Amino acid sequence: MESVAFYVASRPAHGGDELTVHHPYDGRAVGRTTLATPDQVEAAVAAAAGVAAEAAALPAHVRAAALDHVSRRLAERADEIAALITAENGKPVKWARAEVGRAVSTFRWAAEEARRFSGELQRLDTDPAATGRIALVRRVPKGPVLGIAPFNFPLNLVAHKVAPAIAVGAPIIVKPAPATPLSALLLGELLAETDLPAGMFSVLPLPNERAADLVADPRLPVVSFTGSGPVGAAIRRSAPEKHVTLELGGNAAAVVCEDWNSDDDLTFAAQRIALFSNYQAGQSCIAVQRVYVHEWIYDGFLPRLVAAVQELRTGDPADPATDVGPLVSEGAALRVESWVDEAVAAGATIEVGGRREGATYPPTVLSGVPKDARVSAEEVFGPVLVVARVETDDAAFAAVNDSAYGLQAGVFTHRLDTAFRAGRVLEVGGVIVGDVPSYRADQMPYGGMKGSGVGREGVRSAMDDYTDPRVVVLTGVPL
Ligand code: SIN
Repeated sequence: MESVAFYVASRPAHGGDELTVHHPYDGRAVGRTTLATPDQVEAAVAAAAGVAAEAAALPAHVRAAALDHVSRRLAERADEIAALITAENGKPVKWARAEVGRAVSTFRWAAEEARRFSGELQRLDTDPAATGRIALVRRVPKGPVLGIAPFNFPLNLVAHKVAPAIAVGAPIIVKPAPATPLSALLLGELLAETDLPAGMFSVLPLPNERAADLVADPRLPVVSFTGSGPVGAAIRRSAPEKHVTLELGGNAAAVVCEDWNSDDDLTFAAQRIALFSNYQAGQSCIAVQRVYVHEWIYDGFLPRLVAAVQELRTGDPADPATDVGPLVSEGAALRVESWVDEAVAAGATIEVGGRREGATYPPTVLSGVPKDARVSAEEVFGPVLVVARVETDDAAFAAVNDSAYGLQAGVFTHRLDTAFRAGRVLEVGGVIVGDVPSYRADQMPYGGMKGSGVGREGVRSAMDDYTDPRVVVLTGVPL
């Protein structure tokens, strides 16, 4: 198996120690690359810092053309890339295809935003002393970006770091997740086909322990991290002077409100919740983990939920009919199993679920879970759902908020007043009305409150995040 190149200062390179990527489903080797050496890391950072001024001055048409090119090439190679995502990450190919489609859209949106990103004019003659004055408020890159990406969306969450950086004219260094570097390397291949200046991007496979040096490097003033809470907190502590965006975990909740009570309503909510607590084997920060159901409808809802979960097909992720594949590793499945066992020991009931097989954990629904059990209070990142009965919709909202996290929530209601109340009281970055919390359009602001992180991704939000306003005041202007 040929070793796949990584990218140092926009050029393909091979490094030192070998990194073999294994298929989570059956453990077979699916790709090889090498780890970047310290000299290569230095070359990447020096090149990013060296090209920053040229990158910031790139015309919009050059940035947009590069982004459009990547979007087009991703679409052309969609089947191949989806198979690669499935091979390295284990997500069912139907979800891998969806991820490629989203990355196509992320780059396309970034191209469009690059063309629009003009700043604003602000009149200053609101004060007599400033008669004849006007401000041009433009946004300039803070400097090179360090993007640290997770394993669960090995293409699109890399795209969410790279595309906005190129859109604003900021060089970027990407560190993909060690378990899933291959999709990011393929993205590097597509970026290398563009006319972006050398040094504008690097994709460096590195073990997590070696990220700390990059985080500390003053030549990379922006750090955009997606991953676990403890690592995010450590990054923030170690780089207080930097601009740090953290997309961390969550224990996303859905609320099924009192008014969502017809047969069709209950069936729809049950099917959506079953599907989206188990998509990607629950390895999405917005997978449904907790469900609060009004007591009037709980008894009608639970059997529908169990039936919908039982209909999901678990198996080989390469099979287009598979709904639920393996977790990223057997270690991850063992952890999920231990959390479920712990909840059961504390009094929880398994409504549906079964035995772990290797890295595959079956879709599982638990009821009667104590609030502080880890399957409820922490991010389970596995196909496990906790269902609870609540007396009122407001009690459900309070239960959603009784969490260290606050990423997104789903509220099944037909009532506008309930939707607005949810939007006001829920301590989350996004509320999805009439559906699960597991909805993300790639152009919308995405991020959380509390332990779920700081800052927002989503193409335009990340562009704002990577830039500072720069004001140029013109005087003596005939307004
Ligand atoms: C995440 O897991 O935070 C990303 C979810 C998504 O992009 O759909």
